[in-house]
Amino acid sequence: MSIREQLRGLPVLAGDLPGFDAATTPDDPHTLFVRWLSEAVAAGVSEPHAVTLATVDADGLPDLRVLMLKEVDDLGWQFATNRHSAKGRQVAANPSAALGLHWREQARQIRVRGPLRPLDREACAADFLARPIPSRVASLAGPQSAVLGSPGELADALTRAERLVHDAPQTVAEDHTVYAISPVSIEFWQGDAERRHVRLRYRRNDAVWIKELLWP
Ligand SMILES: Cc1cc2nc3c(=O)[nH]c(=O)nc-3n(C[C@H](O)[C@H](O)[C@H](O)COP(=O)(O)O)c2cc1C
Repeated sequence: MSIREQLRGLPVLAGDLPGFDAATTPDDPHTLFVRWLSEAVAAGVSEPHAVTLATVDADGLPDLRVLMLKEVDDLGWQFATNRHSAKGRQVAANPSAALGLHWREQARQIRVRGPLRPLDREACAADFLARPIPSRVASLAGPQSAVLGSPGELADALTRAERLVHDAPQTVAEDHTVYAISPVSIEFWQGDAERRHVRLRYRRNDAVWIKELLWP
């Protein structure tokens, strides 16, 4: 079977999908996000907090990767990473980003776009120390996204970082950074097997959110 045949034979938007009545949505997109997240957890969606983060490098070339959404509050939609990583360098050059969530089990996606900024060092350190030990060890081991000479180099660096976390558990990786995206638009998309998808976009206009339906 060709790749084309295989791809085109795969099911999509299958199963028992939830409805979405855009007419009864709240004025504030964050309230709707909290509702949708609770529904995703209740529906058994796998890793609903895994988001795709899109950034643009200094040459205008887009990039993306999956990471964990850590907080959504007045500061913005937050994720944590190494500020010297590829994405860290990209957002230093172009301080805006997009986040995407895709909940297959419910045929839902959420799209968030906006400028972003790093939180202060205190908040970054607190986030770092709240992470599980293997995450802290990995962050302290070496420069995320740099070219790795060999697997042995990584193994040695992890051993050194493990010892460091064991001997000095309050050690914080100075490059660990929490970023907050301040959304200018948030779209909620509910897929439908008959392709009558429902798209609701919240667009920020100063302090007010404007709600708009979009053609599917
Ligand atoms: C489920 C999942 C969760 C991840 N969570 C994070 C995260 O919270 N922070 C992070 O820096 N990388 C995370 N990663 C790794 C990133 O996808 C990526 O490989 C790494 O951040 C380097 O990206 P960059 O080279 O574009 O900077 C995660 C990957 C997966 C698949």
